[in-house]
Amino acid sequence: MDARNNPILVIDSGLGGLTVVRALLNRLPGERIIYFGDTARLPYGTKTPETIQHYIHQIVQWGLRHQPKHVVLACNTASALALPVMRGRFSPIPITGVVEPGARAAAGATNIPEPVIGVIATEATIRSGAYARAIHGRRHRAKLILTSTPLLVPMIEEGRSSDDPLVQLALKQYLKSMIDHKIDVLVLGCTHYPLLKKAIRTVVGPQVSIIDSAYQCAEDVAARLSRANLWASLRSGDDRNRFLAYVTDDPDRFAKLAPRFLGFVVDSPLRVAPEVLYQQEIRPAMCQPA
Ligand code: DGL
Repeated sequence: MDARNNPILVIDSGLGGLTVVRALLNRLPGERIIYFGDTARLPYGTKTPETIQHYIHQIVQWGLRHQPKHVVLACNTASALALPVMRGRFSPIPITGVVEPGARAAAGATNIPEPVIGVIATEATIRSGAYARAIHGRRHRAKLILTSTPLLVPMIEEGRSSDDPLVQLALKQYLKSMIDHKIDVLVLGCTHYPLLKKAIRTVVGPQVSIIDSAYQCAEDVAARLSRANLWASLRSGDDRNRFLAYVTDDPDRFAKLAPRFLGFVVDSPLRVAPEVLYQQEIRPAMCQPA
């Protein structure tokens, strides 16, 4: 079988990774995407590295049945805390994330010798130091302002958007010190945040470069597939037919909220109960002779 026509597996804790799916569908019009949203165990942003690595390992293991040609951790928290470990465990399957592409774009967004770069993300992503390392590795004189913004994900998951007064109030509070420090660049370090880009733009002003890690991630995947000669050789139909989703809980809620992220209506995804993910871990042990 021609590996070029195998799907891309996109993994997120819930719905936020759909911003990456949207960018991938736009950038790579021949590709099929299998999406896995771990909605039963969301949020990842408050969990420890060990737990997130365990969850992501289970999902990649489960996803191997689809023979993905590329795996994307479309979650900043998972990218920050689980990417190097998963690459080691599942080599040679290419696994990429959103932190490196976002940091690369942030570092290249301005010619100012000592730019002030803000990053907003979940608590776990900020605590990991992944963005600080990735940006300073490219722009060691950049001044970084890193802020966790934990209220934004639940607000977006509730369906609140840029014109919602609560969203605007939260953004003004969260971004205050960045505005005081006159940031030049702001990284949206969580896959949910592009949905609030309009309100974020209003708060930070037109002079700030806003980096959307979903868009940068799609560019990165496109470049890697091209280098590996793995672009799909067939055109696989309209966006809806190129996308198949699985969730660990509440498929109907996912189907209701997904169009906000994707821009098109989806069928209810298939459910994979977390027990299935745990069972696949113990099955090999059960097969051992007594
Ligand atoms: N998708 C996650 C991220 O990009 C945020 C949601 C969560 O906390 O699970 O960091």
